[in-house]
Amino acid sequence: MCGIVGYVGDEQAAPILLDGLRRLEYRGYDSAGVAVHEEGGIEIVRAVGKLRNLETALSERGLRGTVGIGHTRWATHGRPSEVNAHPHIAGPVAVVHNGIIENHLELRAELEAGGFTIASDTDTEIVSHLIHREIIAGHDMVTSIRRALDQVDGAYAIAVVSENEPRKVVVAKSSSPLVLGVSRGATYCASDIPALLPYTNEMVFLEDGEVAVLEPDGFAISTLEGTPVSRRPRKISWSPVMAEKAGFKHFMLKEIFEQPRALEDTLRGRLDREGADVVTAEVGLSEDDAKAIRRVILLACGTSHHATIAGRYWLEEFAQVPTITELASEFRGRDAVVGEGDLVVAVSQSGETIDTLMAAKEAKARGAKILAIANVNGSAIPRMADASFYTHAGPEIGVASTKCFMAQLANLLMLSIWLARRRGTMSEGEAGELIEGLARIPHLIDENLKATHETISEMVGEFSSARDVLFLGRGLSYPMALEGALKLKEISYVHAEGYAAGEMKHGPIALLDSEVPVIVLAPQDRHYERVCSNLQEARAREAKIIGVTSAGDAQTQALCDAYVEVAPTHEALSPFVTVVPLQLYAYCVADYKGTDVDQPRNLAKTVTVE
Ligand code: F6R
Repeated sequence: MCGIVGYVGDEQAAPILLDGLRRLEYRGYDSAGVAVHEEGGIEIVRAVGKLRNLETALSERGLRGTVGIGHTRWATHGRPSEVNAHPHIAGPVAVVHNGIIENHLELRAELEAGGFTIASDTDTEIVSHLIHREIIAGHDMVTSIRRALDQVDGAYAIAVVSENEPRKVVVAKSSSPLVLGVSRGATYCASDIPALLPYTNEMVFLEDGEVAVLEPDGFAISTLEGTPVSRRPRKISWSPVMAEKAGFKHFMLKEIFEQPRALEDTLRGRLDREGADVVTAEVGLSEDDAKAIRRVILLACGTSHHATIAGRYWLEEFAQVPTITELASEFRGRDAVVGEGDLVVAVSQSGETIDTLMAAKEAKARGAKILAIANVNGSAIPRMADASFYTHAGPEIGVASTKCFMAQLANLLMLSIWLARRRGTMSEGEAGELIEGLARIPHLIDENLKATHETISEMVGEFSSARDVLFLGRGLSYPMALEGALKLKEISYVHAEGYAAGEMKHGPIALLDSEVPVIVLAPQDRHYERVCSNLQEARAREAKIIGVTSAGDAQTQALCDAYVEVAPTHEALSPFVTVVPLQLYAYCVADYKGTDVDQPRNLAKTVTVE
């Protein structure tokens, strides 16, 4: 989704804004622009397409000034074009915005009736004119912004500069994310932490309904109503290097290879191998609460939703607690039954996905307890939750989630073991075996990554022209099949379906012929024999079979046109190893086809619109 950056200090603003935008590219965008205070007033430069177009336009224009704002736009209202790109100027102000103004049509009509000329199709330009109208009425910049936002319904994070107050950037937010960065002699803002990491790791998260005035020597936060808010910066432990490619061709590949480290960091200090238990006060439940939970509801979107399906299987089997998974967008507004006694676990890499955030808020309002599983410290979902159980995967830049998915699996499994031990549904022996196995997983993945990548790179040429691909799995391999299909769809634009293997004969088998590769997840678990029967059924329809098999499983491998081996594990741990070849398959097909792996078309890393 759109990305915002802002800078006020003593350095030239344009290069800092461009660098920040580059670090936000992964959020997804189709045009970009900056506004800088020059001596004669505010100047804007905007360009459609990739940031290199903006960079060229900037070098031709040579903006000079030490205060400015920048934006990458992911089109919602109005097609990608220079006139629709942000910043939007009205009178002395320029505005960048992330979010959606719901009552923009009504406001547009009112402004036009009042003589304002609106050049673009965007909802954002309306905000700039609303602010201008308040300035004309004689208000200062902050008051004008407050009064303008009072007229607006919807989600926004905005950054504003004004010719009348040239040493300030003013920001405000409701629902969309915004973080401030503070360093000596400069203050920054951005939609996301990685944009600011090269400059500072002292950061402040703005809350909904707050406005902040940024000046070179610091910031002042207040509510939209004008009440001052005191908030100290917190130190973010991510380093700028974590958000670099480190020699890999794409962020996605780097992040796939980082999975052993992401998993190790997420497990660190949380596995009590001697006590056969999980150590975490972070889930925010007492021993009694753990026993009293009536039901768990797992809320998420996309890849995070796939992690929750595995989470459901673990929670039910180990903690014997009734569990449902809910797509956050479907949970909202349908009057779902939720209330006291329910533990709602909201799972989100970014911690900002609007559907997950709003669904969790709805559940909280009805009396459920909310536990956030998120990767971004201090993001919106953890902030509204009763407790937060963070994953420690480090910043994830590739739009297609990989290492964060792995870390989410780890947290969901740890939560299941923790609850199971408190509810008396898992013996010390069982827990000990599982924990020992889990602790070994980073090593097992690491050992096989390079070879798996090589095997898959060699095989994709044969299959990459397929127009449809089917992924099949049973039990814990079912959500991995869903995830494998999603990864392939989003980065290689190949149509793919993930299916419960047992469901194949209830419909998708009709699609099979010699043109359709079927990727069958067949680890040696309790479902193995039945999955092999499904594999045979697909083979009998001449489908090309790619097996994900346990190492040394010659019997299944003999039935496959191609196969990848995964390390044998405790059967409950198979998702950690089976998903890796699926991620690499999607990556290699996309790379073979030459698509934009890290920024696939139409997708955004953080989805802040409903
Ligand atoms: C796919 C992907 C998305 C996200 C989804 C939810 O690779 O990354 O499907 O999983 O947009 O995002 P978060 O986890 O940030 O809530």
